[in-house]
Amino acid sequence: MSQSEIAITVNGTERRAEVEDRLLLVDFLREHLGLTGTHVGCDTSQCGACTVILDGQAVKSCTVLAVMAEGAEIRTIEGLAEGESLHPMQEAFCTHHALQCGFCTPGMIMAAVNLVDRHGPDVDAETVRHQLEGNLCRCTGYHNIVKAVLAAAGAQRTPAE
Ligand code: FES
Ligand code: FES
Repeated sequence: MSQSEIAITVNGTERRAEVEDRLLLVDFLREHLGLTGTHVGCDTSQCGACTVILDGQAVKSCTVLAVMAEGAEIRTIEGLAEGESLHPMQEAFCTHHALQCGFCTPGMIMAAVNLVDRHGPDVDAETVRHQLEGNLCRCTGYHNIVKAVLAAAGAQRTPAE
């Protein structure tokens, strides 16, 4: 079985490992690094539960091989809070009741953080809905998720700031 040495920076820390070439990035995060906040809902790129930010782009980590992320910078849900302080997007999801079972929430929040980074603090509801189309939620009906993202957008510092 073919193996490769990889080095990936995850939440600001370089992580090195020898992995099978067929290992999915989501399994590297969950099983090798213990970062189980990134969920697996479908394994077939449908649900978005596994969304992380890879070099500034939201990606479904079940569609990326770990070896493809060699040299990349990855941010996962575990990398959002600063100490005891939640990220504004996490706060807004709590305040606006944007989660119920919470299964979709880490992926939804990572996609939301990334869309605000890309579209800026004045992003509108239509754009939020469109950008989150790849993230499925069985519980909330999406309205409160959109409210939370719009509320957080103004508070989230975008990379250009
Ligand atoms: S687990 Fe990756 S899209 Fe569903
Ligand atoms: S909160 Fe349950 S799937 Fe979204």
